[in-house]
Amino acid sequence: MTRVQAARTQVAIIGSGPSGLLLAQMLDRAGIASVVLERRSRDYVLGRVRAGVIEQGSVEILRRAGVAERMLREGLRHEGVEIAADERRYRIDFGVASASLTVYGQTELTKDLMEARDASGGSPQFEAEDVALIGVDTTKPRVIYGREGVRHALDCDFIAGCDGFHGVSRQSIPAGVLKTHERVYPFGWLGVLADTPPISRELVYASHERGFALCSMRSAARSRCYVQCDLDADVAQWSDERFWDELAARLPAELASRVVRAPTIEKSVAPLRSFVAEPLRYGRLFLAGDAAHIVPPTGAKGLNLAIRDVDQLAAALVAHYAEGRDGLLDEYSASALRRIWRAERFSAWLTSVLHRFPERTSFDRGMQLAELENLTSSTAARTAFVEAYTGLLP
Ligand code: FAD
Ligand code: DHB
Repeated sequence: MTRVQAARTQVAIIGSGPSGLLLAQMLDRAGIASVVLERRSRDYVLGRVRAGVIEQGSVEILRRAGVAERMLREGLRHEGVEIAADERRYRIDFGVASASLTVYGQTELTKDLMEARDASGGSPQFEAEDVALIGVDTTKPRVIYGREGVRHALDCDFIAGCDGFHGVSRQSIPAGVLKTHERVYPFGWLGVLADTPPISRELVYASHERGFALCSMRSAARSRCYVQCDLDADVAQWSDERFWDELAARLPAELASRVVRAPTIEKSVAPLRSFVAEPLRYGRLFLAGDAAHIVPPTGAKGLNLAIRDVDQLAAALVAHYAEGRDGLLDEYSASALRRIWRAERFSAWLTSVLHRFPERTSFDRGMQLAELENLTSSTAARTAFVEAYTGLLP
């Protein structure tokens, strides 16, 4: 018979992406014990290149959690964004709503969060295999998993499902209870990272007859750029030359002339999806981040939603342990879902305005261009955009 190693903690956290790491950090600062279980290796988790835009509210949450020091020093503060459509260019100044954003790679944030875990002695249990959630609808939930040839049983009070879209946590909610809402888009994004100066000080979102493009950055010397691609795009078919050609072709001529081609350091394709699961709580299991919802990346909301979910969940767990109050735990699902649906709305809308859809007619293109004209000519529309894009609304 295989030996089972038993352990106990207060909160078992599944997944060591930004959600899981931040939750562990916030609980630790409140004196609540947790164990983070991660399917992948440390190098894999630290090497993933993903989002880069951090809302003001997220910066504040990370600062409160004691993990914003490097981000405040090295992150790039942005006070506007540019949207281009063919040769037209629109700059939207965040000043209309007194807002700003910080551009700081998710890779760097993950590194900061991981260092905080290491310093506290609570490093994740990497390469945890076959994680299974048991008795989540009882007061004695348990997580079982395999690691380094040993079977483990982790007893806990609560389980936080922070294991992303493909994780096991959401699947542990019975089919009769879980409702999901989904829109799958007929295209993806091909993203590259390259040591080349950004074409502009601010992000440029470009809507073009050939498809969408985005020029973002990680520093004054490193660019992060995306082009809309087919869902079945194969990175092997996208040479660096082809990528830079396609990016330049989708930008207004003056911006295209500023593209400095450099070898890419990373290149990957991501599908676009809108997805919401509900409820976010089942018994002692709580979902947060991509385990609960997916937004298409156009609005730069995925990482920010995850940070807000965790802030809310951590506050609810702290109220439970410190004051014996369960009101926030009871409200978590309904209250987080209201915020999540608003971010879903904005992300789906911006995706529809900026991308080329396969069956698009000239009327649809006219509608897209009118939406952009409206953003620049109407102060009300511009303010609403800034409130949603910078995450000013609670
Ligand atoms: P994740 O970062 O997915 O972390 C979940 C963790 O759980 C992972 O480490 C995973 O290995 C682990 N895990 C999964 N299953 C198990 C299991 N069974 N047992 C144990 N561990 C498990 N957002 C933007 O705003 N802009 C972007 O450009 C952007 N690009 C993206 C590109 C890709 C390819 C993806 C997948 C996402 C992108 N996002 C982007 C979204 C953003 O990165 C996510 O919203 C963010 O990572 C969510 O954090 P999370 O911790 O909830 O989930
Ligand atoms: C980045 C990603 C996004 O999805 C976005 O909307 C803006 C910036 C980025 O990776 O920098």
